[in-house]
Amino acid sequence: MAKKRYLTGDRPTGPLHIGHYVGSLANRVKFQDEGAEGFIIIADYQVVTDRLDTSDVEKNVFELVRDYISVGIDPDKTPIFVQSQIPEIAELTMMFSMITTVPQLERNPTVKDEVRAMGPGGKMSAGMLMYPVSQAADILLVKPSFVPVGEDQAPHLELTRDIANRFNKTFGKVFPVPEIMLSKNSRLLGLDGDQKMSKSRGNAINLSDDADTVVKKLKKAVTDSKGKVSFDPNKQPEVSNLLTMMAVATGRSEKELAKDFDGKGYGDLKKEVAEAINAFLAPIQKERAKVKDADIKKILKNGREVVREIGRNTMDEVRKATKFRYSF
Ligand code: TRP
Repeated sequence: MAKKRYLTGDRPTGPLHIGHYVGSLANRVKFQDEGAEGFIIIADYQVVTDRLDTSDVEKNVFELVRDYISVGIDPDKTPIFVQSQIPEIAELTMMFSMITTVPQLERNPTVKDEVRAMGPGGKMSAGMLMYPVSQAADILLVKPSFVPVGEDQAPHLELTRDIANRFNKTFGKVFPVPEIMLSKNSRLLGLDGDQKMSKSRGNAINLSDDADTVVKKLKKAVTDSKGKVSFDPNKQPEVSNLLTMMAVATGRSEKELAKDFDGKGYGDLKKEVAEAINAFLAPIQKERAKVKDADIKKILKNGREVVREIGRNTMDEVRKATKFRYSF
């Protein structure tokens, strides 16, 4: 039986944090160990959907690859590539835009949220409206059988499936209709008590944070006035979240950990959570330090070659099916 193929990816907007680790990176390593054929796209064009300042993009691409390698993603087994370096994605986006309706794009709840986040006066660009179509091309170009993503990506994946079905019905079967594999990346709250640990809110512990930074961030973490450590995400969301972070770092259960803090205060809790996280991050950072810029360039060049080869084949089939494979 053929190996199961998946594709997933990230925008190069900043360092990955421990929420990404639990929500997606750990799964990628697991799929790799299980022998799945994975592909990771670094979606650089998607960065300009909500900001036109591209000065950090290249730096962020390098850091993202460092994050991947440091947690155990092996680029020989799971190629990593940059979206803008695959012209076939742009070509496929063009064709997909013809079989997608504007109302379908306008009701995408994730895009609506992103437009809202631009604040009053923020106007949606055509690129913002269209990026889910481009994401469908990211995905379908490599014909994966599943796509592991966070819940906010579900509307884009529904669209991808829709486009695959519509293409196949209109022009003949070229694409698989990939399964959506949702992970709960909202499992970790932000250190400020926000619903989600996020790159942009500055409420995260990054995989690249050094030990002092982790201690400092935890000292500032929001708790409550109850003064008693227990694991109860409804009544004590912030304190429970600290226990969840410790559970991620130690592999022990939150309930078990909570017992250790019987009679202790939040100061002790924060101190021990910081220690556990630092112990968890130490080997990751040791790996991180070994990754040289030259290695990253090789990794991305190889990823580009592998995916362009697949992409050329897919586009060949697309041209044949759509009758754009001319004799001249
Ligand atoms: N939209 C995704 C995000 O913001 C990134 C992404 C781009 C992606 N293309 C993809 C994810 C294809 C999965 C598959 O996180």
